[in-house]
Amino acid sequence: MIIEDFMPQVGESSIREQLVTCLRSNPKTLPSMFFYDHNGSELFEQITQLEEYYPPKIEIPLLRSTARKLNHELKDCDLVELGSGDCSKISVFLDEVPRDIRQTMVYYPVDVCKNAIEKSACNLQDKYPEMGIHGITADFLEHIEKIPGNRKRFFCFFGSTIGNLTVVKAMEFMKNLGDIMNDDDRLILGMDMVKDVSVIEKAYNDCQGVTAEFNKNILKVTNNHLGTDFDPEEFDHVAFFNEEYSRIEMHLKAKRDMEVIIPALNERIMFKKDETIHTENSHKYTVEGIKEMAKAGELSVENIFSDDKKWFSLVEMVKR
Ligand code: SAH
Ligand code: AVI
Repeated sequence: MIIEDFMPQVGESSIREQLVTCLRSNPKTLPSMFFYDHNGSELFEQITQLEEYYPPKIEIPLLRSTARKLNHELKDCDLVELGSGDCSKISVFLDEVPRDIRQTMVYYPVDVCKNAIEKSACNLQDKYPEMGIHGITADFLEHIEKIPGNRKRFFCFFGSTIGNLTVVKAMEFMKNLGDIMNDDDRLILGMDMVKDVSVIEKAYNDCQGVTAEFNKNILKVTNNHLGTDFDPEEFDHVAFFNEEYSRIEMHLKAKRDMEVIIPALNERIMFKKDETIHTENSHKYTVEGIKEMAKAGELSVENIFSDDKKWFSLVEMVKR
């Protein structure tokens, strides 16, 4: 088992600059990639178990049936999973792949969270000792070219993580992915679909408050990188569906006027009561939106595997 790390370390200037620029902007933002430190990744795993958080409940059975249909494509393949997290989804997928095929494969989990890569790669190697594993700690927006390309590749991007990118960023990502894909490569893209707004809003406002804790964790991650003194309890979790952009937006709303100091820059970030930090978008798609993403990557849609209610789609795309 190999693990490579391309991410800048805590406190490195590129990370600090990115965070400071977002906090200086009006309205204030924080990039959702920063949710996923060790604690944030564990909180996300808890979210996936919540009654209200419907996406995995639909995607997992879809993964099983899709893997059964496509497993013959995986022979002698490099299986690349973007935003692999705890690898629980690929595990469902791999369970449907015969052992003699798994033996010919190498699995490449790609994630910004080093802890997640290390832990899940070890777990997966124990579960599938016959399969090669090569973990990559990297930002799929910045380091896509680090993914090896000597063999046929089967890209997986599950969980509708693409929905956390703005439409412009998602299209740029699709273009970059399409550019590195070869003629016999394949992509399976998980996309959460538009549905009743009350169902969507409940999924991001669970009654146990796990999503609120996940949202506030981004302030702790920011404190670690910038040495700031954000008190997460001084902010409220806010999540609502923005119809115009067809997305859930998560924000953190200041409970009172406050100032937060960035010691290294000797700079104060001022907050008015009720001012928000925009922390995440989670876009919900239509079939039209699926086609736009494929077009951005110059890919063609081979299949859309959906549940009966059309709440979630696994989209199979190939190079045109
Ligand atoms: N695919 C898993 C995890 C989804 S959570 C599932 O469906 O359950 C989103 C994952 O993407 C997290 O593990 C997070 O660390 C990772 N991630 C978010 N932004 C990323 C980026 N820019 N580059 C690489 N990984 C990223
Ligand atoms: C990882 N991503 C697709 C999740 C989502 O639904 O947008 C992250 C999340 N945020 C709040 N709950 C879950």
